[in-house]
Amino acid sequence: MERELTMEFARVTEAAALASARWVGMGNKIAADNAAVEAMRAVFDTVHMNGTVVIGEGEMVEAPMLYIGEKLGSGDKPVLAVAVDPLEGTNLVAKGMPGAIAVLAVTERYGLLHAPDMYMNKIAVGPQAAGRIHLDAPVDENLKNIAQALGKRVEDLTVVILDRPRHNELIKQVRACGARIRLITDGDVAPAIACAFEGSGVDVMMGIGGAPEGVLAAAALRCVGGEMQGRLWPEDDEDIERAKKLGVTDINKLLTLDDLVKTDDIFFSATGITEGPLLKGVTFNRGGAVTHTLVMRGKTGTVRFIEARHCFAKKPKYAIKGACEEL
Ligand code: FBP
Repeated sequence: MERELTMEFARVTEAAALASARWVGMGNKIAADNAAVEAMRAVFDTVHMNGTVVIGEGEMVEAPMLYIGEKLGSGDKPVLAVAVDPLEGTNLVAKGMPGAIAVLAVTERYGLLHAPDMYMNKIAVGPQAAGRIHLDAPVDENLKNIAQALGKRVEDLTVVILDRPRHNELIKQVRACGARIRLITDGDVAPAIACAFEGSGVDVMMGIGGAPEGVLAAAALRCVGGEMQGRLWPEDDEDIERAKKLGVTDINKLLTLDDLVKTDDIFFSATGITEGPLLKGVTFNRGGAVTHTLVMRGKTGTVRFIEARHCFAKKPKYAIKGACEEL
């Protein structure tokens, strides 16, 4: 994939974030999500590529746009696989809480696991602790190894976990080790990525969250040499059937980073919608808005933080809530 695509994909997540940010705190997560989807869809179609959504808003019958199998881009080469979450953390935007991002990952055609829309048990760390974790290892062993790799004490680690009853036992075990925990209400992609950035205040993300979100986080971690492991966590037979339909033959398989993302030829882009551990949220100012985007290219390992100033006089659609459909 050509390096010029970097900027194109940054523009795509910027558009989703700008549109969705209009809905911060409005108590309407569906409208916030729709705004992000429409803006992302519109900008994708300006990009010279022949993309197919492999992780998106759902199956064709459930989602009018960015559904799995949908074609994106101008139709010209290269042929690409696209994973999107136009608004990761819908509740966070609806309530005006931190940690919401617009996010995508793009690889060559077969580069991403086609993760079914179900849960996945996950563990994610940054490059320094890569090779030192195992999803099936006891919690204390993982934390001890991560702390050693980071040159810290276990007490100095910060573990991010979704605040859910299904994590009560995990939380108990992490507390018993003495590590610090940051419980989050939603949005486990941003903290998983944050593990790879010293100074983000996050050392490891653990627990059960969305499988599609797991692939997106894995794409980011692959760009920077971090590590993630996962295992699908079906709730019922329907989940198992859904996984089978997407080609999953062994639902219990331990998914390594190579299973989740099969190539280094990746682009990853995320734009903050609300303030998070890595990215500032969208701010509106006189005549425009400012966005913060993290865009990475796996092939070269280049990481860029882009602060963009958007001028509404020249981009009038961004000035109006709900007007991003025709960007
Ligand atoms: P949205 O789909 O509402 O954006 O939620 C995202 C999310 O919080 C993910 O970050 C996380 O992996 C998953 O939902 C957790 O699912 P649940 O809320 O069912 O525990």
